[in-house]
Amino acid sequence: MTKTFPGLFVVVEGIDGTGKSTLVSNLYKILRKKGVDVLVTFEPTHGKWGRKIRQSFSMSKRMEPEQELSLFLKDRKEHLRETVIPALEAGRVVLCDRYYFSTMAYQGAMGLDPKGIKERNTTFAISPDICFLLELSPDKAIERITHGRKEAINNFEKLEYLNKVAEIFSSLNEDCIIRLDAAMSPERLSKTAAEIILKKLDDKGGLN
Ligand code: TMP
Repeated sequence: MTKTFPGLFVVVEGIDGTGKSTLVSNLYKILRKKGVDVLVTFEPTHGKWGRKIRQSFSMSKRMEPEQELSLFLKDRKEHLRETVIPALEAGRVVLCDRYYFSTMAYQGAMGLDPKGIKERNTTFAISPDICFLLELSPDKAIERITHGRKEAINNFEKLEYLNKVAEIFSSLNEDCIIRLDAAMSPERLSKTAAEIILKKLDDKGGLN
């Protein structure tokens, strides 16, 4: 769904281990220093549906793909209504860690049709102004997760699955997508992304 707001909706996407959260937090700092009013948010949320999704991550058996998809859609509807759209209407920059491109890629990798997933989203979900897609090979991403963070790999982070997820991400061709090489240093990555956001804000005539 395309709708124009006074604010700017920026989403960050990519497989686990690409540094999305670090990019979001660095962008927040850079934009705040420039005096931009920024809201940072993420999906799955900490709302009732998001909590159900996160609980399911810790279970040994994954939910059925349709059931999982339905929870992500409910979570996103609530998130847009309660958090994202009010901030965009107030003229803020919203930085969102994951959005419906993740649903296309992750639930698509579970066997659902990514195009069908997108159609079910766009009946209610607004298109972002920018989608930064962080790209890194699944091997390197897993290495970062296991060595860098010393975390156990959960159900969502198995290599074979991530390979399928990465394949779908790389096939996406929406106009808002800007691909960034996640092998860049976090500083370069955030500087590059911040310049793109600031240019877009400038083109819009700045924010209030
Ligand atoms: P996080 O690691 O960014 O907190 O996200 C948790 C997991 O949720 C991650 O492995 C990807 C998954 N996910 C989906 O499967 N579908 C979705 O629509 C979203 C937003 C996330």
